[in-house]
Amino acid sequence: MGNPDHLTTQAVRELNQADVILVPKKGSDKADLADLRRQICNKVLQQSVPIVEFDLPVRDSTSGTYLDGVNDWHAAIAATWRRIIRQALPDGGTVALMIWGDPALYDSSLRIAERLLNAGMQVQIHMVPGLTSFQLLTAAHCIPLNTLGGAVMITTGRNLRDEGWPEGCETMVVMLDGGCAFQTLEAADYNIWWGAYLGMDNQILMSGALADCGNQIIAKRAQARQEHGWIMDLYLLRKRDTET
Ligand SMILES: C[S@@+](CC[C@H](N)C(=O)[O-])C[C@H]1O[C@@H](n2cnc3c(N)ncnc32)[C@H](O)[C@@H]1O
Repeated sequence: MGNPDHLTTQAVRELNQADVILVPKKGSDKADLADLRRQICNKVLQQSVPIVEFDLPVRDSTSGTYLDGVNDWHAAIAATWRRIIRQALPDGGTVALMIWGDPALYDSSLRIAERLLNAGMQVQIHMVPGLTSFQLLTAAHCIPLNTLGGAVMITTGRNLRDEGWPEGCETMVVMLDGGCAFQTLEAADYNIWWGAYLGMDNQILMSGALADCGNQIIAKRAQARQEHGWIMDLYLLRKRDTET
């Protein structure tokens, strides 16, 4: 999650045992994310492991449906991985790819890795679990994720905007939301716990009744995004009448 303290000892061990570490570059806006990965490597590597940077293909959001665009994009990333791995390790070996948060949550690296297998590449995929952004959010605000015995929905801003709040849902974690989809809700009914740049030096937290702090979050988010050139944020919403 961008903070070396959040790597598990298992992740540190695997990085140290790799023959090469791949670090994606995602364009100038996110250059500091590639820098962060390099800084983390510098901090945790006890021996010299080559770090290979590569340009991540950019998703074409103008052609076809959203899913078609993602499919083409994943194919392009898999082709890039194949090329880079063959160049870096022509005789085989162990490649480490650093994933943001936990690889199982809103991350397609495992799906893309499976494309290597499907394309006939002889690879064994091994995943190390990581801390995920909603754990950092609940820890930063010192709140439980769920209500007593209650269920939790983890979803995206797009889903909340398009589908609304599902019947019976008490707690919702919203990720990947560039448009503050909480604005589509009846503000009086919810509390919100919001966090940006969690685990980093510039972490920002805000929480309270959605009716009181929704607009402040929108303004703060816009300001921070402008300041840094990028933002990663998420929030937890809870129905006020289910508060425990
Ligand atoms: C592509 S998903 C990756 C999620 C990641 N695999 C995880 O375990 O959290 C990116 C989304 O995760 C959330 N996120 C990731 N890192 C974050 C951070 N440091 N602070 C706040 N939100 C973060 C944001 O909602 C962002 O849009």
